[in-house]
Amino acid sequence: MSKTVLVTGGAGFIGSAVCRFLIGNTDARVICLDLLTYAGDRRSLRDVEECERFTFVKADIGDVEAVKHLLADKAPDVIMHLAAESHVDRSISGAAPFIETNIVGTFRLLETVRAYWLELPVEKKCEFRFLHVSTDEVYGTLGDEGLFSETTPYSPNSPYSASKAASDHLANAWYHTYGLPVVISNCSNNYGPYHFPEKLIPRIITTALEHGDLPVYGKGQNVRDWLHVDDHAAALWLVATQGRLGEKYNIGGRNERRNLEVVEAICSILDRVGPPGPAGGYASLITYVTDRLGHDHRYAIDASKLETELGWSAKYNFDTGLEATIDWYLSNEWWWRPHKGTAEAIYQDKSI
Ligand code: NAD
Ligand code: DAU
Repeated sequence: MSKTVLVTGGAGFIGSAVCRFLIGNTDARVICLDLLTYAGDRRSLRDVEECERFTFVKADIGDVEAVKHLLADKAPDVIMHLAAESHVDRSISGAAPFIETNIVGTFRLLETVRAYWLELPVEKKCEFRFLHVSTDEVYGTLGDEGLFSETTPYSPNSPYSASKAASDHLANAWYHTYGLPVVISNCSNNYGPYHFPEKLIPRIITTALEHGDLPVYGKGQNVRDWLHVDDHAAALWLVATQGRLGEKYNIGGRNERRNLEVVEAICSILDRVGPPGPAGGYASLITYVTDRLGHDHRYAIDASKLETELGWSAKYNFDTGLEATIDWYLSNEWWWRPHKGTAEAIYQDKSI
């Protein structure tokens, strides 16, 4: 029988990819719950909005009454919890919404879900699953060598990663203490379509198209491990449905790049396929700016548990995936243009 899946944060970057994945690749009914903060956009759901298996509900994960009624009404078999404040720079300039949504909101959601789960008929109760979607940033920072594994101790450094680490601990505690069927995923940096233009890759692409300065923090030597958002969505479904309860799974595509390499790659692709750039080429726009406070040096994921246990592998290669992403931004200015002002506004605060 087809499942009913509740996706929190489904109007965000990764959540919308999850909704597209579920509608396109499964027969699940999909309920998207999203508060539509600055980062949520229903237009990101345009490919699924018309599908009769898809429903959108505007609500806060921390609104106990709203979530209680939604659970009673829709009776989900699986919950994929992605709703969060997600941007490290914003967490540095103001941590309050990160504490409120990522920690308190997740706590309230876990409690509301636990009350729902306890009342389920035995068969449905046994099959119910709650996936808590988290980040590799909970592990802190790496030197030039080594990888994060599922047993790497937590050592979060930013207000964002501390709030995600706290929510991971809550999800884990609800499994161990109450038996709520929880599984946790920790993923590296995603890229792809519908990525809010405050984050590195879409910020650089959209700013380059405006011939603006391309801000590289510090010397651009920090390393991130990039994964296409569609590869992440497929992995999340596998972990949600087949991951072992009480376990965590790291997700990453083994695509480490220094930030400067990423920015230079975007510039050279735009020189080739984009509209005419400035006289010296798009790379002439690169500008080194003050570093992020507490900037983690390097993230890199060992995804072998996910690969060997659940048979997942990434389909995208970073170089072709990046070019496809740039093509998407070139063709979809209607989507990113209205977000550009909001995305840049936080950077006017010079304390970042
Ligand atoms: P995003 O900022 O693009 O989307 C977050 C979504 O959550 C938005 O649609 C927003 O409206 C919604 N939301 C925020 N607060 C809410 C609340 N209180 N109630 C209901 N909805 C709310 O974020 P994203 O990049 O898609 O990340 C999704 C999840 O994946 C987050 O939990 C994030 O920590 C995690 N993650 C992200 C990455 C990445 O590279 N972007 C990597 C690993 C893990
Ligand atoms: O690792 C997973 C995490 O990846 C997710 O949990 C977060 O939600 C997601 O936002 C992302 O965090 P990062 O801080 O790594 O992503 P961001 O795109 O903000 O920055 C990537 C790198 O680029 C980082 O080293 C900072 C740098 N940077 C970023 C911006 C926005 C710049 O040099 N210039 C910029 O303008």
